[in-house]
Amino acid sequence: MKTENFETQAIRAQTEKTAFKEHATPLFLTSSFTFDTAQEGEALFNGQAEGHIYSRFSNPNVDEFVNKMCLLEKTESGVATATGMAAIFTCFAALLKAGDHVVASKAIFGNSLYILQSILPNYGINHTLVEIDDKEAWQDAITPQTKILFVESPSNPTLKIADLSFLGNLAKEKNLIFCIDNCFATPYLQQPVRFGAHVIIHSATKYIDGQGRVLGGAILGDKKYVDLCYDFIRRTGASLSPFNAWVLSKSLETLAIRMDRHCENAEALYQFLEQHSDIEKIFYPFDKNNLQYNLAKKQQKLGGGLVGCQVKGGKARGTSFLNALKLHSLTANLGDTRSIATHPASTTHSKLSKEQQLEQGITPGFIRFSVGLEHIDDIIADVSQALKNSK
Ligand SMILES: Cc1ncc(COP(=O)(O)O)c(C=O)c1O
Repeated sequence: MKTENFETQAIRAQTEKTAFKEHATPLFLTSSFTFDTAQEGEALFNGQAEGHIYSRFSNPNVDEFVNKMCLLEKTESGVATATGMAAIFTCFAALLKAGDHVVASKAIFGNSLYILQSILPNYGINHTLVEIDDKEAWQDAITPQTKILFVESPSNPTLKIADLSFLGNLAKEKNLIFCIDNCFATPYLQQPVRFGAHVIIHSATKYIDGQGRVLGGAILGDKKYVDLCYDFIRRTGASLSPFNAWVLSKSLETLAIRMDRHCENAEALYQFLEQHSDIEKIFYPFDKNNLQYNLAKKQQKLGGGLVGCQVKGGKARGTSFLNALKLHSLTANLGDTRSIATHPASTTHSKLSKEQQLEQGITPGFIRFSVGLEHIDDIIADVSQALKNSK
């Protein structure tokens, strides 16, 4: 049945049934696929026939995951990767060559920044970093060598919002590739294609798995760009494993319902923190006092499952607050059913210099909450007692 509805697509887009007529997609845990004849093998290798050859190239579980992601992000094409970072690196490595230039937001994940600053220059690819919301700076940073505009929205960890229509129009006008890491929003909350994005990247490790089990990533977008990424992955090996693809495809079936609850719980935690006297500053895309509120509302269906805050008392207080938490997990991941509290300055963004951290709004007392699916009363009670017991 043809449908445009997200929930139905996430559940019903499925690999063709085998002769056993199974209901749920089985796991195709095989490194390679057989050819009935030598001629069939030759035809598959030279592209005259379609079919699976080797799981580094393609696999039914990986195909199912990719097909669903394309439907949900409304993109023409897609390819899966072993991790989110593999997706980001592949995108740069496959779409750029020596001499090219990238304009990126300063507010991006620490490892994405590392790729731009410490890996790509070795291959003659340079970049300029700009404030996510400084339109003039985006325009001024473009040179004749610029090929990609790269952004994360909401950004990790301070949840800054990029104006996607502005970047989409700029990319169109200057003939650039607009590439966005859509990991925090997921396709359920935000579909960047609607705003002119050409390439959409995901760390599927986060909300797409949603249960903290497997690593994975995806690159989705215009076929001409995805084809280059596919070729790079097929030959260099950052392919998604069939097992992880099977897990991730199953996880997509519940993405919408999970995101609804993540967002509901995050909104409630935001409201609790916002009025708390021990909180200096709050970071949440749907924060009504935030200048980016209207933009976030325009681009996202809901506020997302993450809330950041600056606890009064700097790093010492932040550390004792984390140690006082009883329900929240202290771990580097996010997007899990379990609520997680993270101190980005000493963990996920610790490789950045102090100046770079501050530029991104990562102060020593900044805490990032990935609000889970436990009962909201328990989530708030835990944060409340940890604030009280960490003074
Ligand atoms: C926004 C963002 N992009 C990419 C990644 C990298 O994903 P992975 O850990 O799957 O490589 C992360 C990981 O935290 C992230 O937060």
